[in-house]
Amino acid sequence: MLISGEAGLGKSRITAALEECLHGEAHLRLRYFCSPYHQNSALFPFIDQLGYAAGFARDDPPVAKLEKLEALLARAAPPDEDMALLADLLSLPASERHPLPNLSPHRKKERTLEALIRQLEGLVREQPVVMVFEDAHWIDPTSRELLDLTVERVRSLPVLGVITFRPEFQPTWTGRPQVSMVALNRLDRQNRTILVAQIAGGKALPDEVVDQIVERTDGVPLFVEELTKSVLESGLLREEVDRYLLDRALPPFAIPATLHDSLMKAAPQSDASSPTSCCAPSPVFPELSCEPLSPALSPRS
Ligand SMILES: Nc1ncnc2c1ncn2[C@@H]1O[C@H](COP(=O)(O)OP(=O)(O)OP(=O)(O)O)[C@@H](O)[C@H]1O
Ligand SMILES: [Mg+2]
Repeated sequence: MLISGEAGLGKSRITAALEECLHGEAHLRLRYFCSPYHQNSALFPFIDQLGYAAGFARDDPPVAKLEKLEALLARAAPPDEDMALLADLLSLPASERHPLPNLSPHRKKERTLEALIRQLEGLVREQPVVMVFEDAHWIDPTSRELLDLTVERVRSLPVLGVITFRPEFQPTWTGRPQVSMVALNRLDRQNRTILVAQIAGGKALPDEVVDQIVERTDGVPLFVEELTKSVLESGLLREEVDRYLLDRALPPFAIPATLHDSLMKAAPQSDASSPTSCCAPSPVFPELSCEPLSPALSPRS
């Protein structure tokens, strides 16, 4: 499943909600994160995931990391050569147990991608896999190649793959029978209001405060969250048992400029009432609840 949407619209939130839904169902969860700082580091999200899943500590000596990696990979019972290639991918020294084959750089890359696919195939023999791949707009070219192979391969495997990205990323996988796409729209006014109320902990806020937040946040849930929190912390409101009251005239307020600038540089501005160019008419949360979701989960949770 592909999830597309501007910054702050709730892509990661949906992956977290999906994982909550799957709580209690036997499955293995693999999470991959692309990074704006590693767009040219080959296979960065896969290297990062392997290190995280193996439990690497920052000050582990290479030999300890190698043992942890071997223990992790052993679950999928890979051939010795795969073990050597994946250790090499993580910049770990070759071991006598798994000597690194002598390959040309091109062949080595191909074999490494195959080894990573085989890992996945080995894991699904244990239980179904949910593979969440976040922020593909920052993907490096080699990871993209691997993702292409993975999207083809999962067609016949018990794998749910979820790939999130901002609209500047052009997926090439749409139209395949195993691929569906959700394009997120900005929140409408009603959902903005619900989100404000939820962040206020269910206590009513003065109408004029809600109106300003709804008006100034462009339907981006991240902005709604941040602006509501900053109003609650601003000292403008007096907290009563069941509501917040305004003690003085309400000054105009705005999204903190730093937050707004950093997000809007990456995402074109658009009128909240019209769908963004990426977003074909689709509800805010197709197939998921339309209500704002429960409090945020950390990326690795
Ligand atoms: N439907 C929702 N209900 C409640 N909170 C939401 C909802 N959608 C998003 N949020 C909140 O808005 C914030 C931004 O959401 P999220 O991080 O999922 O955006 P994103 O699309 O992944 O952005 P980015 O492209 O920057 O990764 C989060 O704090 C999230 O909890
Ligand atoms: Mg995100």
